[in-house]
Amino acid sequence: MINGINWKDGSFIHVDDLHKSFGSNHVLRGVTFDVFEGETLVILGASGCGKSVLLKHIIALMYPDSGRVDYRGENIFEMLAPELNEVRKNFGMVFQGAALFDSMTVGENVGLPAFEHWGTRGEELSKLVEEKLTLVGLGGIAHLRPSEISGGMKKRVALARAIALDPDVILYDEPTTGLDPIMAEQINELIRDTQKELGATSIVVTHDLHSATFIGDRVALVVDGRVEFVGTTDELMSTEHEAVRNFIARGQANRDRPEPDFTVSF
Ligand SMILES: Nc1ncnc2c1ncn2[C@@H]1O[C@H](COP(=O)(O)OP(=O)(O)O)[C@@H](O)[C@H]1O
Ligand SMILES: [Mg+2]
Repeated sequence: MINGINWKDGSFIHVDDLHKSFGSNHVLRGVTFDVFEGETLVILGASGCGKSVLLKHIIALMYPDSGRVDYRGENIFEMLAPELNEVRKNFGMVFQGAALFDSMTVGENVGLPAFEHWGTRGEELSKLVEEKLTLVGLGGIAHLRPSEISGGMKKRVALARAIALDPDVILYDEPTTGLDPIMAEQINELIRDTQKELGATSIVVTHDLHSATFIGDRVALVVDGRVEFVGTTDELMSTEHEAVRNFIARGQANRDRPEPDFTVSF
């Protein structure tokens, strides 16, 4: 935690006019929004619109061409490595496709952040791992390997790992993509329960409207590299805003079309 900093009123994370291009592909075209402490903000947008790229900027895994991300009033892109590492300890990330290490057991995957950041080991680490796995409904499976569990269980393990350091903010990238509808619903419920249990601020990236309205307090809709609309889930569903109506109409037409699940590794 960073103490003694006065951040903008109510704004916990402030994303301001982010631009990011890859060659001639201008992906983020002035993304601006706020995240309030304790809320679940969903970033909704079509496949390929830049949601994963945006999420990576929020913890400075990618740097923008211009713009800023303030965490508690401080621009993370201006931080030196030690300060950034401190800030990152407050963030837990559930990557698209879970991104577990296959050569390690489930328990080793979940325990890795605590081992690396705090030097936790032995009995203490086992206890922490079991506690986090139990929170996501997977007590007793620490000895298994990722190859021995289902896709839904992998997402749960990825969440257990993301909450291992008791983060202030949990970032989820497409938590339900690639899961069958029943498993997807279970993950949606788990995200909501985790939110209630831990009270962490959550930022969830998804292209799934149902998931967005189920788990979100507020939704930011990304269209053409900008946030076109921000509002509560009720406001999203009732607004006459054209981009929102179009997105909802298209979503209903494409409902069953799966999104390719490409995982970026670091
Ligand atoms: N590391 C990268 N290098 C080049 N282009 C990238 C990279 N990451 C993402 N992109 C491009 O940025 C665009 C947005 O990608 P992404 O954020 O993954 O979309 P979404 O998550 O909304 O489906 C895509 O056109 C993608 O090809
Ligand atoms: Mg993505």
